[in-house]
Amino acid sequence: MVIYVCDDYGKMSEVAANQFAAHLILKPNSVVGLATGSTPEGMYSELIEKYKKGEISFKNVVSFNLDEYIDLPKENENSYYTFMHEKLFDHVDIKAENINIPDGNVKDFEKYVKEYESKIESVGGIDLQILGIGKNAHIGFNEPDKVFLKKTSVVDLTQSTIDANSRFFDSIDEVPKKAISMGTGSIFKAKNILLLASGKSKAEAINNMINGEIDPQIPASILQLHSNVVLVIDKEAAELLDEDTYIRV
Ligand code: PGA
Repeated sequence: MVIYVCDDYGKMSEVAANQFAAHLILKPNSVVGLATGSTPEGMYSELIEKYKKGEISFKNVVSFNLDEYIDLPKENENSYYTFMHEKLFDHVDIKAENINIPDGNVKDFEKYVKEYESKIESVGGIDLQILGIGKNAHIGFNEPDKVFLKKTSVVDLTQSTIDANSRFFDSIDEVPKKAISMGTGSIFKAKNILLLASGKSKAEAINNMINGEIDPQIPASILQLHSNVVLVIDKEAAELLDEDTYIRV
Protein backbone atom coordinates (compact mmCIF):
# COMPACT_ATOMS: atom_id res chain seq x y z
CA MET A 1 0.00 0.00 0.00
CA VAL A 2 1.40 3.38 -0.99
CA ILE A 3 0.08 6.30 1.02
CA TYR A 4 0.35 9.87 -0.25
CA VAL A 5 -0.52 12.57 2.25
CA CYS A 6 -1.40 15.99 0.85
CA ASP A 7 -1.79 19.36 2.54
CA ASP A 8 -5.46 19.79 1.80
CA TYR A 9 -8.47 18.72 -0.24
CA GLY A 10 -7.35 20.63 -3.34
CA LYS A 11 -3.95 18.95 -3.43
CA MET A 12 -5.55 15.54 -2.73
CA SER A 13 -7.86 16.05 -5.72
CA GLU A 14 -4.94 17.05 -7.96
CA VAL A 15 -2.74 14.11 -6.95
CA ALA A 16 -5.64 11.65 -7.31
CA ALA A 17 -6.52 13.05 -10.76
CA ASN A 18 -2.89 12.63 -11.83
CA GLN A 19 -2.98 9.00 -10.76
CA PHE A 20 -6.27 8.45 -12.61
CA ALA A 21 -5.01 10.24 -15.73
CA ALA A 22 -1.87 8.10 -15.82
CA HIS A 23 -4.04 4.98 -15.99
CA LEU A 24 -6.06 6.40 -18.92
CA ILE A 25 -2.93 7.49 -20.77
CA LEU A 26 -1.28 4.09 -20.33
CA LYS A 27 -4.49 2.16 -21.10
CA PRO A 28 -7.03 4.31 -22.98
CA ASN A 29 -9.63 1.51 -22.91
CA SER A 30 -9.44 1.16 -19.12
CA VAL A 31 -12.38 -0.27 -17.19
CA VAL A 32 -12.83 2.08 -14.26
CA GLY A 33 -14.87 1.61 -11.10
CA LEU A 34 -16.23 4.95 -9.93
CA ALA A 35 -17.35 6.30 -6.59
CA THR A 36 -19.72 9.08 -5.60
CA GLY A 37 -19.66 11.28 -2.49
CA SER A 38 -18.05 14.59 -1.60
CA THR A 39 -14.53 13.17 -1.59
CA PRO A 40 -13.99 12.43 -5.32
CA GLU A 41 -15.79 15.56 -6.58
CA GLY A 42 -12.59 17.61 -6.76
CA MET A 43 -10.78 14.81 -8.57
CA TYR A 44 -13.59 14.64 -11.14
CA SER A 45 -13.30 18.43 -11.71
CA GLU A 46 -9.55 18.05 -12.25
CA LEU A 47 -10.18 15.21 -14.73
CA ILE A 48 -12.64 17.39 -16.67
CA GLU A 49 -9.92 20.07 -16.91
CA LYS A 50 -7.42 17.50 -18.16
CA TYR A 51 -9.95 16.32 -20.74
CA LYS A 52 -10.56 19.91 -21.91
CA LYS A 53 -6.83 20.44 -22.31
CA GLY A 54 -6.66 17.28 -24.45
CA GLU A 55 -4.49 15.41 -21.97
CA ILE A 56 -6.92 12.52 -21.50
CA SER A 57 -9.94 11.00 -23.24
CA PHE A 58 -12.76 8.79 -21.99
CA LYS A 59 -13.72 7.72 -25.54
CA ASN A 60 -12.78 4.09 -24.97
CA VAL A 61 -13.31 3.95 -21.22
CA VAL A 62 -15.93 1.65 -19.68
CA SER A 63 -17.18 2.64 -16.24
CA PHE A 64 -18.99 0.82 -13.46
CA ASN A 65 -20.30 2.71 -10.48
CA LEU A 66 -20.00 1.19 -7.06
CA ASP A 67 -23.50 1.74 -5.81
CA GLU A 68 -26.89 3.36 -6.09
CA TYR A 69 -29.84 3.94 -3.76
CA ILE A 70 -32.86 1.68 -4.12
CA ASP A 71 -36.24 3.21 -5.00
CA LEU A 72 -34.89 6.68 -5.69
CA PRO A 73 -35.83 7.71 -9.25
CA LYS A 74 -32.65 8.08 -11.29
CA GLU A 75 -33.61 11.68 -12.18
CA ASN A 76 -33.72 12.57 -8.46
CA GLU A 77 -31.08 15.18 -7.58
CA ASN A 78 -29.61 12.82 -4.99
CA SER A 79 -29.33 9.72 -7.16
CA TYR A 80 -25.83 8.61 -8.00
CA TYR A 81 -26.94 8.58 -11.63
CA THR A 82 -27.48 12.36 -11.39
CA PHE A 83 -24.26 12.88 -9.43
CA MET A 84 -22.10 11.09 -11.97
CA HIS A 85 -23.63 12.88 -14.94
CA GLU A 86 -23.35 16.30 -13.31
CA LYS A 87 -19.87 15.84 -11.86
CA LEU A 88 -18.18 13.97 -14.71
CA PHE A 89 -19.98 12.22 -17.55
CA ASP A 90 -21.75 15.27 -19.06
CA HIS A 91 -18.40 17.05 -19.40
CA VAL A 92 -16.22 14.37 -21.02
CA ASP A 93 -16.36 12.13 -24.11
CA ILE A 94 -17.42 8.89 -22.41
CA LYS A 95 -19.95 6.97 -24.50
CA ALA A 96 -23.39 6.55 -22.93
CA GLU A 97 -23.35 2.84 -23.72
CA ASN A 98 -20.11 2.43 -21.76
CA ILE A 99 -21.56 3.88 -18.53
CA ASN A 100 -22.81 1.38 -15.98
CA ILE A 101 -24.51 2.59 -12.80
CA PRO A 102 -26.57 0.13 -10.74
CA ASP A 103 -30.28 0.65 -11.38
CA GLY A 104 -32.10 1.00 -8.07
CA ASN A 105 -35.52 0.70 -9.66
CA VAL A 106 -35.52 -2.73 -11.25
CA LYS A 107 -38.13 -5.40 -10.47
CA ASP A 108 -35.93 -8.44 -10.07
CA PHE A 109 -32.97 -7.36 -7.92
CA GLU A 110 -31.61 -10.87 -7.51
CA LYS A 111 -31.25 -11.30 -11.26
CA TYR A 112 -30.03 -7.75 -11.75
CA VAL A 113 -27.14 -7.88 -9.27
CA LYS A 114 -25.87 -11.09 -10.83
CA GLU A 115 -25.98 -9.49 -14.26
CA TYR A 116 -24.07 -6.42 -12.99
CA GLU A 117 -21.34 -8.65 -11.60
CA SER A 118 -21.18 -10.71 -14.82
CA LYS A 119 -20.98 -7.59 -16.95
CA ILE A 120 -17.88 -6.44 -15.05
CA GLU A 121 -16.31 -9.82 -15.64
CA SER A 122 -17.31 -9.86 -19.34
CA VAL A 123 -15.20 -6.75 -20.02
CA GLY A 124 -12.18 -8.22 -18.25
CA GLY A 125 -12.67 -6.82 -14.75
CA ILE A 126 -11.89 -3.41 -13.33
CA ASP A 127 -8.48 -1.91 -14.06
CA LEU A 128 -8.77 1.01 -11.66
CA GLN A 129 -11.25 1.23 -8.81
CA ILE A 130 -11.84 4.61 -7.16
CA LEU A 131 -12.99 4.47 -3.54
CA GLY A 132 -13.97 6.87 -0.81
CA ILE A 133 -14.32 5.60 2.74
CA GLY A 134 -17.15 6.03 5.23
CA LYS A 135 -16.64 7.16 8.83
CA ASN A 136 -17.47 3.56 9.70
CA ALA A 137 -14.81 2.39 7.18
CA HIS A 138 -17.37 1.24 4.63
CA ILE A 139 -16.31 1.03 0.99
CA GLY A 140 -19.11 1.38 -1.52
CA PHE A 141 -22.04 0.52 0.71
CA ASN A 142 -20.27 -2.46 2.26
CA GLU A 143 -21.27 -1.69 5.80
CA PRO A 144 -19.66 -3.19 8.95
CA ASP A 145 -20.99 -6.71 9.29
CA LYS A 146 -20.17 -10.22 10.53
CA VAL A 147 -18.78 -11.24 7.14
CA PHE A 148 -17.37 -9.45 4.12
CA LEU A 149 -19.96 -9.05 1.38
CA LYS A 150 -18.60 -10.93 -1.61
CA LYS A 151 -20.72 -9.96 -4.59
CA THR A 152 -22.86 -7.12 -5.84
CA SER A 153 -25.93 -7.19 -3.59
CA VAL A 154 -28.85 -5.32 -2.13
CA VAL A 155 -27.71 -3.91 1.22
CA ASP A 156 -29.32 -2.20 4.21
CA LEU A 157 -27.63 1.08 5.06
CA THR A 158 -26.48 1.53 8.64
CA GLN A 159 -27.69 4.43 10.76
CA SER A 160 -24.20 5.99 10.58
CA THR A 161 -24.39 6.07 6.78
CA ILE A 162 -28.00 7.30 6.75
CA ASP A 163 -27.00 10.10 9.16
CA ALA A 164 -23.95 11.02 7.06
CA ASN A 165 -25.95 11.10 3.82
CA SER A 166 -28.88 13.04 5.30
CA ARG A 167 -26.91 16.26 4.63
CA PHE A 168 -28.00 16.02 0.99
CA PHE A 169 -31.71 15.43 1.68
CA ASP A 170 -34.42 17.76 3.06
CA SER A 171 -34.99 15.43 6.00
CA ILE A 172 -33.44 12.25 7.34
CA ASP A 173 -36.69 10.37 6.55
CA GLU A 174 -36.07 10.92 2.85
CA VAL A 175 -32.72 9.12 2.88
CA PRO A 176 -33.16 5.70 1.24
CA LYS A 177 -32.54 2.81 3.62
CA LYS A 178 -31.36 0.34 1.02
CA ALA A 179 -28.92 0.38 -1.85
CA ILE A 180 -27.32 -1.84 -4.46
CA SER A 181 -23.60 -2.09 -3.83
CA MET A 182 -20.72 -3.88 -5.45
CA GLY A 183 -19.45 -6.31 -2.83
CA THR A 184 -16.10 -6.10 -1.06
CA GLY A 185 -15.19 -9.20 -3.08
CA SER A 186 -16.08 -7.46 -6.36
CA ILE A 187 -14.02 -4.42 -5.32
CA PHE A 188 -11.08 -6.59 -4.26
CA LYS A 189 -10.88 -8.10 -7.76
CA ALA A 190 -9.93 -4.71 -9.23
CA LYS A 191 -6.34 -4.70 -10.50
CA ASN A 192 -5.61 -1.28 -8.97
CA ILE A 193 -7.36 0.61 -6.22
CA LEU A 194 -7.16 4.35 -5.58
CA LEU A 195 -8.74 5.35 -2.26
CA LEU A 196 -9.30 8.99 -1.34
CA ALA A 197 -10.08 10.48 2.06
CA SER A 198 -10.27 14.00 3.38
CA GLY A 199 -10.87 15.53 6.78
CA LYS A 200 -10.58 14.65 10.47
CA SER A 201 -13.84 12.71 10.41
CA LYS A 202 -12.11 10.03 8.31
CA ALA A 203 -8.93 9.77 10.42
CA GLU A 204 -10.13 6.91 12.60
CA ALA A 205 -11.47 4.91 9.63
CA ILE A 206 -8.15 5.39 7.79
CA ASN A 207 -6.12 4.32 10.81
CA ASN A 208 -8.33 1.27 11.44
CA MET A 209 -8.19 0.33 7.79
CA ILE A 210 -4.39 0.39 7.73
CA ASN A 211 -3.42 -0.66 11.24
CA GLY A 212 -6.47 -2.52 12.53
CA GLU A 213 -7.35 -6.19 12.35
CA ILE A 214 -8.69 -7.46 9.05
CA ASP A 215 -12.27 -7.57 10.19
CA PRO A 216 -15.63 -7.24 8.39
CA GLN A 217 -16.53 -4.69 11.07
CA ILE A 218 -13.91 -2.52 9.30
CA PRO A 219 -14.84 -3.28 5.67
CA ALA A 220 -11.90 -1.34 4.20
CA SER A 221 -9.42 -3.41 6.25
CA ILE A 222 -9.53 -6.16 3.61
CA LEU A 223 -7.50 -3.80 1.39
CA GLN A 224 -4.43 -4.56 3.57
CA LEU A 225 -4.29 -7.79 1.57
CA HIS A 226 -4.56 -6.20 -1.88
CA SER A 227 -1.29 -5.80 -3.74
CA ASN A 228 -2.04 -2.56 -5.62
CA VAL A 229 -3.62 0.02 -3.38
CA VAL A 230 -2.75 3.71 -3.52
CA LEU A 231 -4.18 6.00 -0.86
CA VAL A 232 -4.35 9.71 -1.54
CA ILE A 233 -5.51 11.48 1.60
CA ASP A 234 -5.15 14.87 3.20
CA LYS A 235 -3.23 15.54 6.40
CA GLU A 236 -6.34 15.68 8.55
CA ALA A 237 -7.39 12.21 7.41
CA ALA A 238 -3.80 11.07 8.09
CA GLU A 239 -3.53 12.52 11.59
CA LEU A 240 -3.51 9.13 13.37
CA LEU A 241 -0.86 7.58 11.10
CA ASP A 242 2.86 7.35 11.87
CA GLU A 243 4.75 9.83 9.72
CA ASP A 244 7.21 7.21 8.54
CA THR A 245 4.43 5.15 6.94
CA TYR A 246 3.52 7.67 4.25
CA ILE A 247 4.90 9.93 1.55
CA ARG A 248 4.24 13.66 1.92
CA VAL A 249 3.35 15.29 -1.40
P1 PGA B 1 -18.00 11.11 1.26
O1 PGA B 1 -18.50 9.62 1.34
O2 PGA B 1 -17.02 11.16 0.15
O3 PGA B 1 -19.23 11.91 0.94
O4 PGA B 1 -17.40 11.43 2.58
C1 PGA B 1 -17.56 8.59 1.26
C2 PGA B 1 -18.23 7.28 1.52
O5 PGA B 1 -19.20 7.25 2.29
O6 PGA B 1 -17.76 6.28 0.99
